[in-house]
Order: sequence, then C-alpha cells, then structure tokens
Amino acid sequence: MAGLLLYCRGGFESECAAEIQGHAARLGVAGFVKAKADTGFVVLETYEAEAAARLHDVLPFAELIFVRQWFVITAWLSGLPVTDRVTALVAGAGVLPEAPRAIFLETPDTNEGKELSGLCRALRKPLDSAYRINAEVIPSAGIRLHICFLSGTSAYVGYAAVRNSAAWPMGIPRLKSPHGAPSRSTLKLDEALLEFLGPAEREAFLRPGMRAVDLGAAPGGWTWQLVRRHIRVIAVDNAAMDDRLLESGLVEHVRADGFRYRPKEAVDWMVCDIVEQPIRVAELAAAWVTEGWCRHTVFNLKLPMKKRYQEVQRCLAQVREKLDDAGLRYHLTCKQLFHDREEVTVYLRREG
Ligand SMILES: C[S@@+](CC[C@H](N)C(=O)[O-])C[C@H]1O[C@@H](n2cnc3c(N)ncnc32)[C@H](O)[C@@H]1O
Repeated sequence: MAGLLLYCRGGFESECAAEIQGHAARLGVAGFVKAKADTGFVVLETYEAEAAARLHDVLPFAELIFVRQWFVITAWLSGLPVTDRVTALVAGAGVLPEAPRAIFLETPDTNEGKELSGLCRALRKPLDSAYRINAEVIPSAGIRLHICFLSGTSAYVGYAAVRNSAAWPMGIPRLKSPHGAPSRSTLKLDEALLEFLGPAEREAFLRPGMRAVDLGAAPGGWTWQLVRRHIRVIAVDNAAMDDRLLESGLVEHVRADGFRYRPKEAVDWMVCDIVEQPIRVAELAAAWVTEGWCRHTVFNLKLPMKKRYQEVQRCLAQVREKLDDAGLRYHLTCKQLFHDREEVTVYLRREG
C-alpha cells in the first residue's frame, strides 16, 4: 500500500484528516483519508507510491498543525511471527529510497499503544543491528525508518526525511516536569520553545537579561520557564503568583486585565495563556507584534468543541491579515503540541 501515516492527539483525527486532505488537494495529490475517532492517527492512502513521497517532500512538516509526526508508508504488515518479528519486518519493509540512518519504533498515543512500548524497546537493538545503525549518532539528514505497531503482530512501515519530520518518536518530546515549577502547564511553553525554535535560535532569542510579559500568568508555570532562562518577566494576572517566583527578583506581578495591559517599553517576548475566545487572543497577539510592543510571542488558542480546524484557520488568517496590512515581515507557525489538550500553540516573530 502507499500513503502517509500521520500521528495526532487522540480525538483530533478529523482535524488531522481535514488538514492533510486540504494540502493533498492543493498540491494535486489524489487519495483518500482513513480516520477513526480516538485512534491517534490518520492514514492518507494515495493511488501511487510516488504521490505520497512527493507530498512528504514538498509539504513542510512545520506547516502541519494537528500532525505530531508523519511518515511515508511503504508496507502494511500483519501476522508478524511473534518468534521473529525482526526478520519479517526487515524482509517486508518495502522499498526505501536510501538506507535509513535511524529507526523510530512507534505506536499511536493511546492506552493500547502504550501497552506496546515494551515490545518497541525489545526490538530496538535487533533492528538497529539488522540495519547497521549506530543509535548513538543522531542524524541531521537522510531518512529514518518508522515502524508503527498497531498490535503485537501488525505494523505500518515506512520512512520520513529527517529534515522534514519531528525529531522525536511519535512527535512526543520527553520533557521532565521541572522541580519547583508552579504548574504543569509549564511544559507547554517548554515544548513550544523546543518545537518552534532551533538550537541556534533558542540561543539567540532567549538570552539572559531579555524582557518578557506573561499575560494570564498565574500561578506562574510559563513565567517560570522564562525566569529559568534569566529573562525578566512582568506577570499580568489578577490571580496570585507563586511566592518563590516572586522572590526570584526577576518577576514583577501586575494585577490587571491582559487585554488592556500595555507595556511602558517594548519587550522581547509576550506570552499568553489566557482562557478566552481564540479569536480575541489571536487579535491581541497580532496587535502586540504589529505595534512593536514585542518581537516574539507564544500564545495558546483554546479551541471550541466544534469546527476546531476552521477556528484555527480563522485565527491564523486574522493574524496574517493584520501583519500583512501593516506591511511587516514575520514568521508564523502553529502546532498542537503534545502538552496541549483542547488547544493549539502559536509562535509569531517579527522579522527585520
Ligand atoms: C491557564 S491559566 C495560566 C497558567 C499559566 N500559564 C501557568 O503556566 O501557570 C489562565 C490564567 O489566565 C488568567 N486570566 C483570565 N482572564 C484574564 C485576563 N483577561 N487578563 C489576565 N489574566 C487573565 C486567569 O486568572 C488564569 O490565572
């Protein structure tokens, strides 16, 4: 079979399907989507293998919002012998465009998928040695072999370009809940900075001494991520901030409405995690960048129950329109991160 396998958050299969279908149609790739609710993945089947490979080649992974990870399918294998899965996987892997430089053993992010994680661990070394892969070397180019187990005896096999896919199996970075952070949502901003910025950008854009505003900051999980990087933060929220954060000397707590608050001087970053209508948050963030109140912003859009894909599109279109009207150059990217629930995270940077 030929196509693409796309991992998403369980419950967001129809958004993921709508998204890939839209791109396939736009790029003239014929195919159909198979999506089942709460399975954590979607398959775009294409009539020709070449079409799936082309779509993976020309569509930037960073532009996909509801897709955590993806790969070109080269084989669907069922009835894998439990006594020797490795030989069957290697023999049945289909045609890869080149020798893989790494292997990701994956499952959908569901409870059933988690039960297969032991199997993935057990097959890791034998598969690495079958493909002569040195797991110590993390490739920056070439292709990676992906095996997605749906059960102990069935799997999709395929490949992804290292340069155009997530750097983590299933698109899930392993972030430890940091000791001392006041809330678990701290991991959302940590993941966002990892997802949206490359190593050199993180170094250039998150320097000690920079200044930030955190709108809807309490109790301080996002502020904590900035303070950890020695960035000074104005935390705007009517609710209480974590005492230890305030004692850091890097945080000023302002009790105010985040939609009305304006900085006295421009800052480097504005981050916003206010639970509000997404279009209002998008409008606010676009205003901060357009007015020059900040250069970078990370904001979270809490999605409604229905028409979630359309709502994200509407918000991003509004941001683009505002910046285009102002004649600004910018970088805009949006993803449903692993730590996002019924929400997506957006990064916007003013260029020049
Ligand atoms: C999801 S919580 C933020 C969690 C925070 N990012 C963290 O990591 O700890 C949303 C916060 O937004 C605040 N909030 C809601 N509406 C607001 C507004 N109009 N202005 C400022 N803060 C607001 C709430 O008081 C709440 O503390």
